[in-house]
Amino acid sequence: MGYFRDNVEQAAGYTPGFQPKATDVVKLNTNENPYPPSPKVVKALAEVKPEQFRRYPDPMGTLFREAAAEIHGVSPENILCCNGGDELLAMAIRACCDERRPLAYPVPTYTLYPVLAKLHDCEAIEVPFDAEFNLPPKLATTGAALTIVCNPNAPTGSLIRAEELASLAAEIKGVLLIDEAYTDFSEWNCVSLVKDFPNVIILRTLSKGYSLAGLRFGYAIANKGLIDGLVKVKDSYNVDAVAIALATAAIRDQAYFRENVEKIKSARLVLTEQLRGLGLTVPESHSNFVFAQVKNGSAAPIHEELAGQNIFVRYWNTPGLADKLRISVGTKEQNEKLIAALREIVSR
Ligand SMILES: Cc1ncc(COP(=O)(O)O)c(C=O)c1O
Repeated sequence: MGYFRDNVEQAAGYTPGFQPKATDVVKLNTNENPYPPSPKVVKALAEVKPEQFRRYPDPMGTLFREAAAEIHGVSPENILCCNGGDELLAMAIRACCDERRPLAYPVPTYTLYPVLAKLHDCEAIEVPFDAEFNLPPKLATTGAALTIVCNPNAPTGSLIRAEELASLAAEIKGVLLIDEAYTDFSEWNCVSLVKDFPNVIILRTLSKGYSLAGLRFGYAIANKGLIDGLVKVKDSYNVDAVAIALATAAIRDQAYFRENVEKIKSARLVLTEQLRGLGLTVPESHSNFVFAQVKNGSAAPIHEELAGQNIFVRYWNTPGLADKLRISVGTKEQNEKLIAALREIVSR
């Protein structure tokens, strides 16, 4: 008998994107924000008192809950702070799923979902998107206890209309978690569904639009019944005192946030056009990354060559993804370096 439960023994675990030690690289592989966090975050960090370390943090992160509630037009009891959006995914699966209560999601999508399903010993029902990444109608009939839709989706960058997700929420009996990790860069979101549907959880993160991937802070927006259920499965002190203070400063600085998001959205358009100009197929993106299909077969050699030049993009050697690269939108300079390197590679 192994030390761990069979499903844990058998699980491969999640492979995070490569994190190079060097800083003088073009890092476009994990969808970080290329700009620094708000100066107000830096100020809040300087104001942290030693006393905040000595004591346990507020278990519910009230300051953040209040700030987020104000921004989203909901009440603080509709917000739950998490140690990154990933923790919310694990909490939702822990709370909703087991051997008899499956998880469902459309594919391709965020590869953490099947990993978490395996670790929680629950079946993962994968429903393929069509070629245009429309919401598959079959998703409504899986009978899953938890359905996750990543919107905008990763790695495709595609976006489903809020009305379609409202219909899905109405049709399914289980919980619908809408993973809005990339919503900061899209035209609409599904927060309003929380008021109408008692089974909808919205996932948000400060890792992308707020430039705080290193802080580890995300949150749920949902009706009070769902939040209360999730609280039962969370670690008592799942977000630390410094993270609460800094995340609150970040989300209160909406002007800075919007300015950076607009810069990234403009750069995304330019990057998309430049990649298309090099002969790659690039669908319209609603995220802070683009999903580029190369012309002749596997994208692996291009991925390798770029890495050799310290330009990192994301590549999956899996069916349906092996001819594509997911490229985060960087600064103008980073994007130009990528395009120059790619131009040289594809012209050979
Ligand atoms: C689709 C998706 N959901 C959730 C997350 C979670 O982000 P974090 O744990 O950094 O908040 C990520 C991170 O890359 C993501 O890509």
